[in-house]
Amino acid sequence: RIYRIAVIPGDGIGKETVPEGVRVLEAAAKKYGFELRPDHFDFASCDYYQRHGQMMPDDWKARIGGHDAIFFGAVGWPKVVPDHVSLWGSLILFRREFSQYVNLRPVRLMPGVPCPLVGRKPGDIDFYVVRENTEGEYSSVGGRMFQDTEREVVIQETVMSRTGVDRILKFAFDLAEARPKKHLTSATKSNGISITMPYWDERVEAMAKHYPGVRWDKYHIDILTANFVLHPDWFDVVVGSNLFGDILSDLGPACTGTIGIAPSGNINPERDFPSLFEPVHGSAPDIAGRGIANPIGQIWSAAMMLDHLGEPEAAAAIVRAIERVLAEQKLRTRDLGGAADTVACGKAVAEMLD
Ligand code: NAI
Ligand code: MG
Repeated sequence: RIYRIAVIPGDGIGKETVPEGVRVLEAAAKKYGFELRPDHFDFASCDYYQRHGQMMPDDWKARIGGHDAIFFGAVGWPKVVPDHVSLWGSLILFRREFSQYVNLRPVRLMPGVPCPLVGRKPGDIDFYVVRENTEGEYSSVGGRMFQDTEREVVIQETVMSRTGVDRILKFAFDLAEARPKKHLTSATKSNGISITMPYWDERVEAMAKHYPGVRWDKYHIDILTANFVLHPDWFDVVVGSNLFGDILSDLGPACTGTIGIAPSGNINPERDFPSLFEPVHGSAPDIAGRGIANPIGQIWSAAMMLDHLGEPEAAAAIVRAIERVLAEQKLRTRDLGGAADTVACGKAVAEMLD
């Protein structure tokens, strides 16, 4: 088992957290008997932009498209490149060109992490948000009319294709079926959005027929967000359109503590293209260069990548090691009230692997 990984640290703390992710990946490879072949790339960063006037080389797709996965840090350095330029010139191109139509984010309360929701303890919150990552509300169909007049009108259409809706629902139902609770929740708003959301509901109902073992329900997005906060223990797999999934996938990790530990996968389930794994957080210019960033979000993303590559045991071992490190204050970084720096925390996870 040999895996070729495109390693792209990007900007800011990405350059500090990615090496810790690679450290843990290499330790896992040794313990679990697979081989890692990392290739490091300096593009998809604002440094690259400053040297070349664009975020990536023209042949970026050929250079990383043949890898088994992409291990990504964070992109963005707003002092030198506007955020919409850096993001649309890199990460968003990866998602669209590599058809990474699933955005997967685990929401789990970990030991040692103060939970903003009163009275919750580890074990109470453990679910996944599955976000549609390529269509829906984030379309480029629309326009402005009568610009700068009293009659001004702006329109942006939601685009849902049967292929696009069914493939994300299938992924979510498959995931639910594989989990012990076998429970799926769909985010909707079919009372207010009267064309696309009833369609979404219909497709959920049709897909559910193929999964008799999965219990499923749906909530309108407004009450669903309230229930994330009030009853996070109700959820197992939550699936939503691009916009609803975006909101839920920030709210979920926010309900379980620091942004520094949350991981994510941008996944092409068919494996026609490499999938991309990255922490939820950005490049954190306010703490970059000081060696104090929490590397756990990056390391947990490495675990998700191994799971995707077909190394579930190594992936689970990394998550267990993360839990052990978080449980001990002296191994945690400052954002969690500890004193460890980025490297010390990364080394601790690598050493805790069983
Ligand atoms: P951010 O996630 O970079 O930072 C938000 C706050 O959380 C900051 O106070 C930061 O210090 C803290 N933080 C984030 N990660 C941390 C970690 N691992 N350990 C300790 N503290 C951590 O979000 P912000 O400030 O909105 O964006 C900064 C830059 O990152 C922008 O250029 C933005 O576009 C980009 N960004 C990139 C993302 C990506 O590459 N996927 C995602 C989000 C933002
Ligand atoms: Mg978001």
